Order: sequence, then C-alpha cells, then structure tokens
Amino acid sequence: MYKNILTQRENKIELITINRPDKLNALNKETIQELHEAFKNADEATDVRVIIVTGTGEKAFVAGADISEFAHFSADQGAELARKGQELLFDFVQNLKTPVIAAVNGFALGGGLELAMASHFRIASDNAKMGLPETSLGVIPGYGGTQRLAQLIGKGRAMELVMTASMIDAQTALNYGLINHVTTQAELLDLAKNIAAKIMKNSPVAIGKAIEAINANYIDGVNGFETEIRLFGECFATKDFKEGTTAFLEKRKANF
Ligand code: COA
Repeated sequence: MYKNILTQRENKIELITINRPDKLNALNKETIQELHEAFKNADEATDVRVIIVTGTGEKAFVAGADISEFAHFSADQGAELARKGQELLFDFVQNLKTPVIAAVNGFALGGGLELAMASHFRIASDNAKMGLPETSLGVIPGYGGTQRLAQLIGKGRAMELVMTASMIDAQTALNYGLINHVTTQAELLDLAKNIAAKIMKNSPVAIGKAIEAINANYIDGVNGFETEIRLFGECFATKDFKEGTTAFLEKRKANF
C-alpha cells in the first residue's frame, strides 16, 4: 500500500524500511507522508511494542532530503518544507509513546541523520557514515538537526560537523555518543531486535511515560522535574504498575 517504504510486523516489532534504493532512500515529500502514516499506524497498534526504522540496501539509511524537490524553492516554501516535515515526521517520531530504534545501515546524511536523531536512540553498522552536509548546499539543517545534534553530541562538535559539512564514521559516532552500538551490517537488525526484546519485557505504559519525561528536558518553558513528578504519579493508577509490583512481591516475572 506504500510506494516508498516497506512495513513488516513480527513478534510485536514493526520494521519500517525506507525503500528508494536508486535515490539512496532520500526523503521526498511522499516518503515523509508515508512514514508519518506508518509510524502513526504502528504507534496506535496494540500489537506493536517497538518500532525499528532502517533503509533498504547495503549503502544507505537515508542520504538526506530529496534535493531535486526543493532546489527551486522560495524562502517561504523553504520554511514551509521544514515546518511540515518537522510536524509530520521528526517531532512526530520523537514524541511517540512506542520506542523507536534507528538502525543506521549506511549513509545517514541531512534529513537521514535528522530522522535517526529524532528516533529514541540509534545503532549503526560499521560501514555507516553520518553528517549534516546542508551548508555545502547553501542551507542549514531544517528537520531539527541544529537542535538535536547539539543535544546529542554537544555544541562544539555539532558546530564543527555542521560548518565543515563533513561525515563521521560509525566508530566516531559511537565515541561522540551519537549512536549506542556498532555492529556488522549483517547483524544490525538482529541487534536491534535483541534490544527490542529487552524493552518488551518492561511496562509499555511506563516506557511511554519515560519517553515523555526524558523529552520534557528539551522543551522550552517545560520543567522536566515537574513533568517527571506528574508522570510518576500517573503510573500508580495503571494496571502495569499493579502487575509489576505484584509480580515482584510474588517472586515471579511481570507479564505486561
Ligand atoms: N536527494 C536526491 N537524490 C539523491 C540524494 C538526495 N539527498 N542523495 C543521493 N541521491 C541520488 C543521486 O542523485 C543519484 O541519483 P541518479 O542515479 O538518478 O543520478 C543516486 O541517488 C545515487 O547517488 P550517487 O551520488 O550517485 O552515489 P555516490 O555513491 O556517488 O554518493 C553520497 C553517495 C551519499 C555521498 C551522495 O549521493 C551525496 O552526497 N548525496 C547527497 C547528500 C546530501 O547532501 N544530503 C543532504 C540533503 S539536505
């Protein structure tokens, strides 16, 4: 039903694969819309506990926003492109209650790295290359990259990476804390699924609230500690809390 992406649901994991191999999985408007629908659908499904996003082929996760689509845009159209994209995909993914793991299997450039950074965390294959090359095109990152890269790797490193428009390899990204693990390309999805299996042992309701609380630190005008207190309190009124604490006291595994 999608033209530019593939989705597969198995063992409570939704695998979303961006599938434009002849364009190195570049994000055009249609792909962003399809990704929005796929993420929304997976987040709302009761039989999905973790979402993994990756790119098709062995070369690219996503080589950026589709340059051919915006090369002729005016200033207003440029701003609209960024606003719409952030709303539909990048902020949308960040704020999902279902954990999103980006499995970066090759180039993650521009909008590709921005999608990986909007995901809740990232793992990568050892051939991966990451960067925000927008200044080489005469623009700046527009899908949240200037904000999230500095949040993840610190201001100085983000400044250098954006100003030089250069790429870093997976090992450097690991050292910077941009990704959590590096493995071979052949083992990348298995690693993502193994991490997903650990996540799925825990309360999905609590995990959704934890995502919201951690994100609260990065929202202007929101006190993250207050958010944490509110969400912590809300947990006490959930079935998951009852099950988790009862299971502990009965010395058995919780069944969420
Ligand atoms: N937008 C549109 N098309 C893209 C693209 C993008 N971001 N990235 C790659 N493609 C297309 C290429 O135009 C080419 O299409 P064609 O065969 O119809 O000419 C195809 O994907 C393959 O890319 P190619 O450049 O031939 O591969 P390569 O191995 O020589 O180089 C990259 C790989 C990733 C270094 C190079 O494609 C690149 O620099 N891409 C743009 C990265 C970028 O600036 N992204 C930020 C956008 S804001």
